Amino acid sequence: MLKKINRKISVAPMMDCTDRHERYFLRLLSKNIMLYTEMIATKSAIHGDRKKILGFNQIEKPLALQVGGSDKKELSEVCKIAEGMGYDEININLGCPSKKVQKNKFGACLMKEPDLVSECISEMINSCKIPVTAKTRIGFDDIESFDYLNSFVNKISEAGCKTIILHARKAILKGLTPKENLKIPKLNYPLVYEIKNKNKNLEIIINGGITNTEQIKEHLKNCDGVMIGRAIYQNPYFLAEIENKIFHNTNVPSRSEVAEKLVEYVKEEVKKGTRVNQIMRHTVGLYHGQNGANKWKRYLSDNMMARDSDFQKVNHIMTIAQNNEKANQVSS
Ligand SMILES: Cc1cc2nc3c(=O)[nH]c(=O)nc-3n(C[C@H](O)[C@H](O)[C@H](O)COP(=O)(O)O)c2cc1C
Repeated sequence: MLKKINRKISVAPMMDCTDRHERYFLRLLSKNIMLYTEMIATKSAIHGDRKKILGFNQIEKPLALQVGGSDKKELSEVCKIAEGMGYDEININLGCPSKKVQKNKFGACLMKEPDLVSECISEMINSCKIPVTAKTRIGFDDIESFDYLNSFVNKISEAGCKTIILHARKAILKGLTPKENLKIPKLNYPLVYEIKNKNKNLEIIINGGITNTEQIKEHLKNCDGVMIGRAIYQNPYFLAEIENKIFHNTNVPSRSEVAEKLVEYVKEEVKKGTRVNQIMRHTVGLYHGQNGANKWKRYLSDNMMARDSDFQKVNHIMTIAQNNEKANQVSS
C-alpha cells in the first residue's frame, strides 16, 4: 500500500538547485519535509542518461519527480519510469514562464489550455499508482481572477489530481525574464485561500515569498501545506528551525553535525566521479547570518572548485565548521 505523503512543508523544485546533492544535504537537516526534483523535460527523462538525470539516493525520499511536458504519451511513459524507479509522486509543471519552456509547450503557457492539461493529467493518472500532482501559478498575463483559477483547478481535479501547488503570483508570458517573474507579479495569498475555501476536498499547497515560521503557521491555518524555495536554498538551516517549530522535533542536528555527514557523503561521491564542488556549492548558505559565514563561504570558493579532489581540503571543512560552532556558542 502507498504511504500517505506528508506535504505540510516542501522544498520547491528549482532548476540548477534541487539536484540530488542538494536534496541529500537538505534531508540531513529535515526528515519531515517533502522534496522535489528540478523540472525534467519528458524527452530528457525518456531518452537521456536515466541514472544521471533521474537517479537519486534512498535517503532523499519521500521524493517527487517534477516533469515538464504536454505530450500525453511521453507524460505517461515518464510516469511509468518514475514509479519504477521508486519516486513517491510525479508533479506536472504548469507554472514555468521561460521562453524555452513555452516554445516546447509546457509550463505556465498550459494555463491557457485547460482541456489539454486535463487530458494530460488523466493519462498520467492512468499510467501509474503513485500520486500525480500539479504546480501552477494563480494566473497569467492579464488574467488573475478567482473564476478563471477556480475553473482551471476544477479541470485538474476532475481529471483526478487532488493535490495542487499554487504559486501565489501570476506569470507574465511575454516581456519578463524567469527571474523577474519570481519578483514582479504581486503575491496574492487571499486568492489561494479562497481556492482552498471553495474546494475543501482538494489538498492546496501555497507557495511564493514565504521566509519564516510565523508566516508558515499563518498559511497553515488557511491551506494544507506550504512550499518554500529560495528562502531554504539561501539559508538551508531554516529547515532545522522548521523541524523544531513546525514539526516539534527537539533533536535537530547542529550545522557542524550536518557538515560532518556531508564530508562522508562527499568522500563516497568523489569515489564515484562526482566533483566536490557539485555538492558543496549547495552549502554556501549553511552559516547564513552566523559568525563565520564569510569564512565558510571563502573556504568553499577558494578550495572546492578544483577538478581534482583533495581529501585534506575536504577534511578541513570540519575544522571550519567546528570553529564556527564554537564562535556561535560563545556569542549566544
Ligand atoms: C533558481 C530557480 C529555479 C526554479 N526552477 C523551477 C522548476 O524547475 N520548477 C518549478 O515548478 N518551479 C521552479 N522555480 C519556482 C519555484 O519552485 C517557486 O515556485 C518560486 O521560487 C517561488 O517560491 P519562493 O518564493 O519560496 O522561492 C524556480 C525558482 C528558482 C528561484
